Amino acid sequence: MSLSGLAGQPRQAIRRFLTVLLIVAVGVGAAIAITRVRLLAAPEQPIAYSHQTHVEAGVQCLYCHTQALRSTIAGIPSVERCMGCHTVIATEDETVQQLASYWERGEAIPWARVNYQPDFVYFSHRPHMGAGINCETCHGNVAAMDEARPTLRMDMGWCLECHLEQDPEHEARLLDCMACHK
Ligand code: HEC
Ligand code: HEC
Ligand code: HEC
Ligand code: HEC
Ligand code: HEC
Repeated sequence: MSLSGLAGQPRQAIRRFLTVLLIVAVGVGAAIAITRVRLLAAPEQPIAYSHQTHVEAGVQCLYCHTQALRSTIAGIPSVERCMGCHTVIATEDETVQQLASYWERGEAIPWARVNYQPDFVYFSHRPHMGAGINCETCHGNVAAMDEARPTLRMDMGWCLECHLEQDPEHEARLLDCMACHK
């Protein structure tokens, strides 16, 4: 056995180890990417409703999400609200006819939730609207979306990051565990 052969063995072992490490790293990277994409994907909706069409037509967010200024929830518009326009607008459109059939059956549209917090988290739209934060800061550019989808992970780190940027006078209140975990 030559000296160079001896030296080659550990080098080969190291190379093999590095190859395995690379494969594992790529696998983990892919898994994280897939989870992120899934987390931020638009859920399937019962009606192909487009935000872009409506915002471009000049309908305001608060016309449909009427509770955002005064409540914990922003609210999803009722079929009645849609039909306020669609008894006359685009009545020949196939999707609008699907919408009208919910109305005729007196059924609510079972919209799938896009953003949600676990039950143990308390979130309210009202203080955030009161502080002048835009919808876009948290929901992204919904106005340009056909299908509403989350644009960022609204986890605890994200909430705290912004709360930490507020007036130090309010810090104790905004960082209190009980503010968000009532
Ligand atoms: C014509 C009514 C209408 C207007 C105007 C409207 N929305 Fe919506 N919005 C809906 C409906 C219906 C849904 C539920 C279906 C869906 O998620 O696409 C929804 C869903 C959403 C969601 C996801 C809700 C969830 O489940 O988490 C967000 C966020 C949202 N809208 C923000 C906005 C913003 C911001 C604007 C203004 C730029 C806006 N909307 C304008 C009707 C409207
Ligand atoms: C303030 C009036 C108004 C309200 C309220 C409204 N729409 Fe519309 N909608 C429009 C206009 C304007 C268009 C565009 C019509 C066109 O392009 O000819 C439209 C188009 C549509 C279309 C046709 C497909 C497309 O995207 O162009 C669908 C489907 C639709 N709306 C569903 C809904 C649903 C569901 C609701 C309730 C959540 C709703 N609309 C509430 C005004 C309204
Ligand atoms: C500070 C961040 C923030 C801002 C600003 C914000 N939202 Fe939300 N929104 C959230 C979070 C977080 C949820 C999920 C709440 C939950 O599951 O309890 C949510 C949920 C929603 C929902 C679905 C359920 C519901 O509450 O009705 C709609 C619709 C919505 N937001 C629309 C809007 C609109 C429209 C605006 C602007 C007028 C807005 N949001 C501003 C963070 C925000
Ligand atoms: C972009 C900045 C921003 C983000 C992101 C944000 N907040 Fe806030 N939050 C504020 C501001 C500003 C206030 C109002 C401050 C005040 O009243 O002085 C507030 C107030 C609150 C309050 C009321 C506190 C009280 O007792 O008065 C709660 C609860 C709250 N936020 C929960 C959350 C949760 C939960 C999240 C994440 C899902 C979140 N916030 C994300 C900026 C933010
Ligand atoms: C501004 C809002 C806010 C404040 C303040 C806050 N949390 Fe949270 N917390 C959240 C949100 C949103 C989640 C759910 C999303 C997540 O898991 O990150 C959460 C999740 C958690 C979880 C579950 C983690 C998990 O992985 O499931 C624990 C435990 C927790 N918080 C403890 C605390 C404690 C202890 C404090 C005080 C030091 C605190 N939180 C303060 C918003 C907040």
